[in-house]
Amino acid sequence: MKEAHVIVDRDFVIGDTDPRLFGAFVEHLGRCVYGGIYEPGHPTADERGFRGDVLALVRELAPTIIRYPGGNFVSGYNWEDGVGPVEKRPRRLDLAWMSTEPNTFGTNEFMDWCRAADVEPMLAVNLGTRGPDDARRLLEYCNFPGGTELSDLRRAHGWEKPHGVKFWCLGNEMDGPWQMEMKTATEYGRIATEAAKLMKWIDPTIELAACGSSSRNMPTFGSWEDTVLEHCFDHVEFISLHTYLNNYADDTPSFLASADLMDSFIEEVVAIADAVAARRRSTKRIMLSFDEWNVWYRTRRKNEGRTKLGWPVAPPILEEVYDMQDALAFGGACLSLLNHADRVKSACLAQLVNAIAPIMTETGGPAWRQSIFYPFRDMSRFGRGRVLQTRVSSPVYTTVYYDPRGTSELSFPMPDVPYLKLAVVDNLDEGTVTLFALNRNLTETLTVETQVRGFGALSLGEAHELHHGDLKATNTKDRPDEIKPASLEGVEITGDRVRVRLAPASWNVIRLSARGN
Ligand code: AHR
Repeated sequence: MKEAHVIVDRDFVIGDTDPRLFGAFVEHLGRCVYGGIYEPGHPTADERGFRGDVLALVRELAPTIIRYPGGNFVSGYNWEDGVGPVEKRPRRLDLAWMSTEPNTFGTNEFMDWCRAADVEPMLAVNLGTRGPDDARRLLEYCNFPGGTELSDLRRAHGWEKPHGVKFWCLGNEMDGPWQMEMKTATEYGRIATEAAKLMKWIDPTIELAACGSSSRNMPTFGSWEDTVLEHCFDHVEFISLHTYLNNYADDTPSFLASADLMDSFIEEVVAIADAVAARRRSTKRIMLSFDEWNVWYRTRRKNEGRTKLGWPVAPPILEEVYDMQDALAFGGACLSLLNHADRVKSACLAQLVNAIAPIMTETGGPAWRQSIFYPFRDMSRFGRGRVLQTRVSSPVYTTVYYDPRGTSELSFPMPDVPYLKLAVVDNLDEGTVTLFALNRNLTETLTVETQVRGFGALSLGEAHELHHGDLKATNTKDRPDEIKPASLEGVEITGDRVRVRLAPASWNVIRLSARGN
């Protein structure tokens, strides 16, 4: 039987998790909005058309901040189309997803939905087909109290009080050729800087995220961040990162290891941001907004939205059905985020409902949890507090990273991947220490002994695992609970040592009570 050893110490801290680390994303994409969060006429919908069953699952999932309205969609979006009397709103072609956008849901409806879901809104501005002046106008519409044309327009539309949106994304994936009006790093850096200036002159309390690379695999990765931050450094608080893990190669050990590249990605972006600071002799630290992350591959290369004829409204695109191994890779990504809580101060699971999402719905029918729902729920519920450094000694395996574009020259071996990946959070307010542990060994149980120093004697609060004998098992409308957490038995605690046996291919949460210390 394989065995791993871990040491954590109350005094050795990575950083506090920011509540915004547990965010998600709602884009006008497929059935994420229409038929997802918003479906007038659905049996559970309220008078605003908000699906009650979806809201209940969102509250259970516990995201803290939601990014909106895109994504690729935002690079062609006219925010004015989505406000004012619904019957006067235009239908438009959406070139991001080759759909027709009815605009019956827009910024104000999103603000109301956020209030109903008890989440903070995060808005992205269009720096593709539009620019800094439009961003300025949207900010004035949303955040200015009144007495100007745009703020009074919001009031006339029925929203008397300003929305007070604090977190804004300066465009989306502007380095990508798939983006409407993509930019070079210099073009984007200039435009983002000017947008930031105008926006902060209206509301200096806002926080801004500049677009980083749309993935670590982009040929411009690194130089993009460097150039963009050379322009924006004094004007933004965040640089964004995006990652979608994939298993195109149908190689599960490699898939599970690939989550570790998120750690590298984060550390590389931190290094670049700090190098820009160093050149200026600045003590300012740019924080990271990992504002799109998930597993996504089955519905990605098909690019269904672009190939379907007929410009449908809310087509069922990107409806990835997640299996057990996806939940494990996803759990690995959660651990990467937690373990960089000192610099990743915001992150958004992409997305929330139907389109690459933890929550699935049938239009007119029920809603259910996908496999990835559970690691996210665990992370959000139990990840609040101080993330502790971990010293891990685990058996390892060797695998391969496959470049998703299929180029062998960009594939590389990944040696010494620990079977155990974990994060430990001291939930200060509750007197609880939570261990999140992933066993990446597909066939063998992993015994883990953790010394949790500095908390005195520990006792077991609660422990559960996510595990299924079939890594390809999924939750469906007819079998919504095929994958669900079960109690983790056999946790042994002796003084400050915790001994636990992790099932092969499992995600585990162990909550220790450290009260009275
Ligand atoms: O989340 C789906 C898409 O992935 C987003 O619209 C885009 O930003 C990214 O490429």
